[in-house]
Amino acid sequence: MQAVTGAISKEEWTLVAELAPKIAKHAEPPLGEKMRILGWLGTDAGKFRGFDGQVQDAASAMGDAAKRGDGQAVIAAFSKTQQSCLACHQSFRQSFVEQFYGSR
Ligand code: HEC
Repeated sequence: MQAVTGAISKEEWTLVAELAPKIAKHAEPPLGEKMRILGWLGTDAGKFRGFDGQVQDAASAMGDAAKRGDGQAVIAAFSKTQQSCLACHQSFRQSFVEQFYGSR
């Protein structure tokens, strides 16, 4: 995300296009870990996945805009990406950290 901010400032759209998939397609946790998280999420799993999907869609749109060299659209999609990060953090981060890392 920091690298994208820098690239946007310099209008380096090729670099934004390279970075976007790294945000959209992040690594998944090992299966055991994933099962523990899904078990903890329970009926909220869909909501959690929805936020992940929003990030994926927004970051992909940012990559497409960057490939077109459309700076305004890159910035709009970057903002949408950040809103989706924040939305998930506001719903889940605190309780997740308490559940899996103890108090922090
Ligand atoms: C589907 C939910 C979800 C989405 C979407 C999400 N996060 Fe998170 N994020 C979490 C949770 C839960 C934690 C707390 C667990 C942890 O720190 O390992 C976290 C922690 C973090 C941390 C702290 C890591 C640390 O080691 O302290 C950073 C930085 C972060 N997220 C960045 C992002 C960015 C940037 C995006 C958007 C591109 C994003 N997150 C999207 C759920 C999400």
